[in-house]
Amino acid sequence: MSTSSHMETENGSTNGVTNFFDLQRMPHIVEALDRNQKIQPDILHVIGNTPLVKLTRIPKDEGILCDIYAKCEFLNPGGSVKDRIAYRMVLDAEQRGVLIPGKSVIIEPTSGNTGIGLALAAAVKGYRCIIVLPEKMSDEKVNTLKALGAEIVRTPTEAASSDPDSNIMVARRMAKEIPNAVVLDQYNNPCNPLAHYDGTAEEILWSLDDEVDMVVIGAGTCGTISGVAHKIKERCPKCIVVGVDPYGSILAQPEELNKSDVQFYEVEGIGYDFLPRSLDRSVIDKWVKTDDHNSLQMSRRLIREEGLLCGGSSGSAMWGAIQAARSLKAGQKCVVLLPDNIRNYMTKFISDQWMEARNFKKVIRNDKVWWWEHLVTDELFQAVVSISNKSTPLEALDKLKETRAPLLTIVNDSGSIVGVFTADNARQRLANLSGSINESLDKFTVKKFYKVDLMLKPTLGQISRLLDITPYVVVVKSEATSQIRKPVGMITSNDLLIYTAAETKHLNGK
Ligand SMILES: Cc1ncc(COP(=O)(O)O)c(C=O)c1O
Repeated sequence: MSTSSHMETENGSTNGVTNFFDLQRMPHIVEALDRNQKIQPDILHVIGNTPLVKLTRIPKDEGILCDIYAKCEFLNPGGSVKDRIAYRMVLDAEQRGVLIPGKSVIIEPTSGNTGIGLALAAAVKGYRCIIVLPEKMSDEKVNTLKALGAEIVRTPTEAASSDPDSNIMVARRMAKEIPNAVVLDQYNNPCNPLAHYDGTAEEILWSLDDEVDMVVIGAGTCGTISGVAHKIKERCPKCIVVGVDPYGSILAQPEELNKSDVQFYEVEGIGYDFLPRSLDRSVIDKWVKTDDHNSLQMSRRLIREEGLLCGGSSGSAMWGAIQAARSLKAGQKCVVLLPDNIRNYMTKFISDQWMEARNFKKVIRNDKVWWWEHLVTDELFQAVVSISNKSTPLEALDKLKETRAPLLTIVNDSGSIVGVFTADNARQRLANLSGSINESLDKFTVKKFYKVDLMLKPTLGQISRLLDITPYVVVVKSEATSQIRKPVGMITSNDLLIYTAAETKHLNGK
């Protein structure tokens, strides 16, 4: 029999306290700040007590008058702010007898960092740990989780939180099937805001002697912002609390719970398509909406100009801080929280090619080859073979065999590309993920692939940069009046080399 979230079974209480945000009355088990301890009993004791660092270059360049300080949560041992809540939820559940060492299995739906925090605690304490996370989240997070011994279940990014295929629903279902499973449930667990009320906020106030004019924090489950804000409002009521929420999320606009506002964005860890219980809007004074471009550019600046090796949502928070802090005067103090670490994104926004592929950065110029600025023409690419998304994986395999094509493009009823079928991905699904050839084609569809649109006049230089990070680029042609993108070809390094070599010969022969 599974033990699901203690919140479901105990009506939102931690040791008997019933109001979710009655944080003052909750048990405070976070240890007091001790900077004199020379040796720590285990790595979990190193969680928290992160440094507050004054920013020197970016605020000045942006013409900000106040002081901006970064709360460096990326320096936690698991690499993120979420180590705090993971450890706090585990301690609380152990105290209440819900988690039993050597017996319980921890299952958690997460965008990765809570998973890493839980896997860290599970590794040290000896729990089996299963993490359910959307495909959007980086492979770096997945590899870290695996190295910590966690088992991973991936779910489709596009599944809404209420969809049976979402990470939240899959985790719930698994908790019913796996004996002794416990979902600590960061969305509904008061230990989430409590960890920040007791820990993060106390540390900020200690560092600045209770003199804080503004705090700027990205919102995901909203545990960080709600917990910090509750403590700050008690001790420093004049402080303005600013929430940062990406376009595509509804956290900042609950009045018009408009699902059409929900869109894909690249920044990980912030934004949701529902309002978590750990969000208390009454303590948030202002919201700033952010986009991928500004956020990721700002993360790169935090790394390059301030030496802070942080992740994408740190850039969102910093960009939000720059907007909000324009209202502050010289001598005032603004704290921006940097939630996670560069390690999670080494193949994502840290890669120039990855940034260029998404138009977050201009493609570099390269004068060493004559063809760099030339436009892609249909002599460059090979034709592609398409199959309907209603086909079966067996039919797709037969088509691959019959045509000897390197890959198939998968199209919907309008002929618009929805993904790619490759032998490599099919093998991985069957061999590594215990998939079955009798599953739907959707399970075998590669949705993360690189494409260029002929209508946007891609250059050979652009293709060459993409081929640095992918074995093939799909060429599509979009229709001006619809969302339809028809696949028309694919390009590999081989195609590019053969084409440019032939053109070079032709030019030299002239
Ligand atoms: C990278 C990153 N940034 C920000 C957040 C938001 O923190 P919270 O869930 O406390 O709102 C998270 C949460 O998972 C995260 O992983």
